[in-house]
This record gives sequence, structure tokens and C-alpha cells, in this order.
Amino acid sequence: MSKRNKKRKRKQGAVIVTTILIILFLTIFYTNGVSNNDDNDINNEYTEKNDKSDNSKNEKIIELKVTPEKYITYSDEKINLSSFKVLGVSKNKKEVNIDKDIEFSITGDTFNIEDNMLLVSSNAITADNGILTISYGDISKNVEIKVFNNLDDNIDGSDIITNSDAYDMVVNKTRNLASDYVPSDLVPLDDIPTVLQNSEINQLRKAAYDALKELFLKAEEEKSFKLYARSGYRSYRTQNDLYNSYVANHGQLEADTFSAKPGQSEHQSGLSIDITCEAMNFQLDDTFFDTVEGKWVAENAHRFGFIIRYPKGKESITGYQYEPWHLRYVGKTLATEIYESQLTMEEYFEQLKSN
Ligand code: DAL
Ligand code: ZN
Repeated sequence: MSKRNKKRKRKQGAVIVTTILIILFLTIFYTNGVSNNDDNDINNEYTEKNDKSDNSKNEKIIELKVTPEKYITYSDEKINLSSFKVLGVSKNKKEVNIDKDIEFSITGDTFNIEDNMLLVSSNAITADNGILTISYGDISKNVEIKVFNNLDDNIDGSDIITNSDAYDMVVNKTRNLASDYVPSDLVPLDDIPTVLQNSEINQLRKAAYDALKELFLKAEEEKSFKLYARSGYRSYRTQNDLYNSYVANHGQLEADTFSAKPGQSEHQSGLSIDITCEAMNFQLDDTFFDTVEGKWVAENAHRFGFIIRYPKGKESITGYQYEPWHLRYVGKTLATEIYESQLTMEEYFEQLKSN
């Protein structure tokens, strides 16, 4: 072979190798590049589809979000449970609508559930509460349901209260019991020590009497204190005679600081009781608080469902002087709330209204 031929052959070989390399490079480039793009497109499409399914039932729900988180209601109310908005929350915090398979249950005697309605007992009083549990599968959320009977709803145009039988009713200088109101469940104070021989005032409504018996019993068991009931239920007529005699003896201005006008006394409700002890010579005055018995009553009456209705320092709100001996039955839950709030009944209701 000539020198020229050899050179041409080498050149041809180089072109072939270069061509093969170029083909190889292009093949690798296209295979990777194009197929990668294809993969990306598929992934994108998959993600989009998946994103759409986030709002469907496929998303795993790990907690519930319920609105409202607390609920205030009234005696004798019917609440449609669908008024509670329930959302599922997924692991990545996405909120998912849930419209079925939600179950509701409620604690306490005050409430009941029937046909997707939450029923509030007609005897329910302010501060009664329950826990509504909303469940979806094995996850659940609690909502506190609390009763609040607004004072403004329980009075007529003549300033007569319309819920006289309720344990949370409020009688004061602007809220009256009807002159013919007599509680229907008065019972005689047969099993506790009393001071006076008078069958009318030695009575209370059944729930108040049961609570007072328990209070007297615990005072004796826990502290060996002996307490006495002095004045319980008073009819409109008795209160009228009493008030008039105070006005005659002290003048109206002074009488109004310690005696209620007829219709405005809690004693007519059968839910109030004046108590005393031997150290007081069985009388009623504000030195009752200086006795060990009086101090114990002030600190413990709420445990049995009573409040000190006319506290010291609150005369301008209650309209009456301090009466450490005058207990008012409101039930344990409300009594404890009022005791802990250190408010009068009037202030307590006012404060709930603004919540
Ligand atoms: N001592 C209270 C205010 C009443 O007369 O009812
Ligand atoms: Zn009293």
C-alpha cells in the first residue's frame, strides 16, 4: 500500500469512530434527557391528581376541628347537631370536609341526644354543663356545652320574674316574685335544729332542705359545729307584715337596707334560709362571721349548693347590708362558680352576658 493510501484509510477510520461516538452520545443524551422529561410530566400529573384527592376522603384524618369550640345554650332548647361544623385535619395540616360517619354523644343529665338534635332539659340552670363528644372513626373532639339563662329573658313588663321555680332565678329590688307565688314543693324542716316555733318559716323547697341537711351534717362531722335554722320560707303576706313593722320601728330608709319589700324577698322563693349558732345566742347579726361556725359556712356553703347572697363590700350592688347568715340555694355547680368568682349573683349573670 502506498503512503497516500495508508493516510486515506486512517482518515476514514477516524471519521467512522467519530460518527460512532456522536451517535452514541446522542443516543445517551436522548435516552436520558427525553425520558427524564417524560418521567417529570408523569410525576407532575400524578402529584396534581394526588393534590386533587387531598380534598376527597382518601386523605388520612388524624384530628378533628370543630366550630364552635364552646357552646352556650338555654333551658329547654333544641340544638341541631349539624350546626357544629366538623372538619378533618390531615397529617400535613390540610383540612378536609367530612359530611358523614360523624357520631355525637353527650355527658350529664342536663342533656340528651335524639334524632340529630341536642335537647337541653327544661330544669337546666345557669352553669350546668356537659361535654359533647364528636367522633369520626377512632378520633374525637370535645366541645363544652354550658347553660346560661339570661336574666333579661326571665322578667315581664311589670318587673315580675317569669322563672320563679328555677334554682337560678334572681329576685332583688328590681325583680319581683308575683304576690301569689308559693313554691309547690315546700317541705317542713323536720330533721334539723330550728330556733323558732313557726310552721311557715320552718319550711324550704325540697332541694334546698336536702342541701341544708347535708351542710349541717358535714359541719358537725367535720368540725363538730352545731348550726340552727332560724328563718326559711316566708309568704308574701308574712314579708309584708315584717317589712311594715321594720318601717314603723326604723323608718323606711333604714328598713330598706336590711329588709326586702314584699315580693322582693328571696325567702318567698323557699330557696333561702337564715342560719345561726349557740355562740350567737341564736340571733342574726353580722358578728356571725366572727364565729368559727360563720367562717366555716362562708368557706364551705358552696359545696352544698348555697351562696352567701349579700356579701360584705357589695352593698351597693345587692342593695342590702352584709348578711353572713343568709344562704341562698342555687345548686352545687352554680354556687361553686359564684363562690370562686367572688361576685354577687347580679354581677355573675352580668359578666356571663358579656362573654
Ligand atoms: N333580709 C333580706 C334582704 C330579706 O328581707 O329578704
Ligand atoms: Zn334572710
